[in-house]
Amino acid sequence: MLNATRLPQIINNILLYLFFTLVLTSCAGGQLGRSTHQEYRQGMVVSASRYASEAGLQILKKGGNAVDAAVAVQFALAVVYPNAGNLGGGGFMVYRSAAGETAALDFREKAAAAATRDMYLDSLQNPVVEKSLFGHLAAGVPGSVAGMEAAHKRYGKLSWKTLLAPAIALAAGGYKLSARGAEELNGQAAGFRQYNLLGTALVKAAGTWKEGDLLVQQELAATLAHIAERGAAGFYDGPVARLIVEEMQRGGGIMTAADLRAYRAVWRTPVTGIYRGLKIITMPPPSSGGIALMQLLQMVEPYPLRRWGFNKDSTIQLMVEAERRVYADRAAHLGDPDFHPVPQHQLLNENYNTQRMAGFTWERSGNSAQIAAGLAAAPEHEETTHFSVVDRNGNAVSITTTLNGSYGSNVVVKGAGFLLNNEMDDFSVKPGSPNMYGLVGGKANAIAPGKRMLSSMTPTVVEKDGKLFMVVGTPGGSTIITSVFQTIVNVVDFDMGMQAAVNARKFHHQWLPDEVYLEKEAIDSLTHRKLTNKGYRLVERGNIGRVDAILRNKWGYYEAGADPRGDDSAAAW
Ligand code: GLY
Repeated sequence: MLNATRLPQIINNILLYLFFTLVLTSCAGGQLGRSTHQEYRQGMVVSASRYASEAGLQILKKGGNAVDAAVAVQFALAVVYPNAGNLGGGGFMVYRSAAGETAALDFREKAAAAATRDMYLDSLQNPVVEKSLFGHLAAGVPGSVAGMEAAHKRYGKLSWKTLLAPAIALAAGGYKLSARGAEELNGQAAGFRQYNLLGTALVKAAGTWKEGDLLVQQELAATLAHIAERGAAGFYDGPVARLIVEEMQRGGGIMTAADLRAYRAVWRTPVTGIYRGLKIITMPPPSSGGIALMQLLQMVEPYPLRRWGFNKDSTIQLMVEAERRVYADRAAHLGDPDFHPVPQHQLLNENYNTQRMAGFTWERSGNSAQIAAGLAAAPEHEETTHFSVVDRNGNAVSITTTLNGSYGSNVVVKGAGFLLNNEMDDFSVKPGSPNMYGLVGGKANAIAPGKRMLSSMTPTVVEKDGKLFMVVGTPGGSTIITSVFQTIVNVVDFDMGMQAAVNARKFHHQWLPDEVYLEKEAIDSLTHRKLTNKGYRLVERGNIGRVDAILRNKWGYYEAGADPRGDDSAAAW
């Protein structure tokens, strides 16, 4: 029987749900095309999904601020972008208030208390790759729900329940799959079946998913309702936590109820620095992204990129030589600062970075073997997701969030309907041993109980003349750092608008392997020849990054950059 004193609250929840169901299932509202010159001043959301961007916009229209909208987008992405949007993963937020206050929130996953340094090695001390990549043992303790609660407690304006309502509507009412979304779910069906013997809504009951099919996730809706009702405690304690622990026990995982109860998001001091007079506000460790981004910007600042031009040989050579040095530093020095003393001041020192470029010569390609000793990073997964949000007052939120690989560990918590991450693979699985390049290192990022694994995620906000200028970030594993770097340079040095800067073809170098990766048609044939003649090994590959960014232009209007490499979409008013 219904409790009479709860009736107004229940009616209120139903009205909220109906409102968001109507708005989100039609989802036309403020949708922007891929390029816009319209005059948006009231607020903007750019994310990997039109449903999530629209959810954020509806929150802004209800009077929510950028943090309110970001919380709604994070929960909506957990429903409509299961590849990387998540409840069972983690991420980072960089915030700048209209008044210039800055903050960085770390809701990265942690290793469980029972985790050990060698947990992914076999009896011969060789890594068993599948164990850190797939199944229950691959999951770190999730941080996203704690992160959203911490952000909302500090900066939110609307009620927590209001922010969860769009996600609940999308999970319970369903959303229409895009062609890409259907294809990606079908591509993962075998993995879902292997790791979810009790079934999951992500596998179609009969046949395969098609564009326009409605994906309804009732178990996920129930989990979101628990979170709406009890905050983070609705996830880390009570029925949802019990379902996670049961899932772990069924699949041989090690995460316990105590691990879940102990999880806390952490406020950290952002990494800040200046590039050509602009203030860069970005993520500190356990992300390597912010430090690496600032190092790259410091290394190229003395040079006339604007005169050389976009993706011309001198520009690419300089940026690649900077990347070579920064990724070597990253491999040797970066890890969870709560466990390892990261030499942040040295790495961000301008003299250090100028000196680091001292051996660079225009005549020929540098040689990574001569740059430094350290551990080449293992290949990183690229299926994270990023979203950017601004409100009418100029408050800005930059969030990058992840399950690590696409659909994380492939394990969907039975009864709770969400995917668990495979973030444990972001640790150095075998520190102290020579890797495939014969180099030794990686102790900074060795597995330890309660430790956060190193990340490349680089959510960033840029300030110009004391005002908001840009909000930027991307998925892409180790290419995240270079994609954010190039997007900022495209705007600042090459005067591109936001969409053009996002669309622009990218390249990437990460010290080892000693190759320059290029998107198709990133450079012309003359540039290709010049670089090859100097000894650069150029390798064409698929898309690099999936940047979702916002620029506040000189007239004070918001310009979107929604990456056409995915289904990404901006919503604004
Ligand atoms: N899992 C991708 C990252 O954290 O960088």
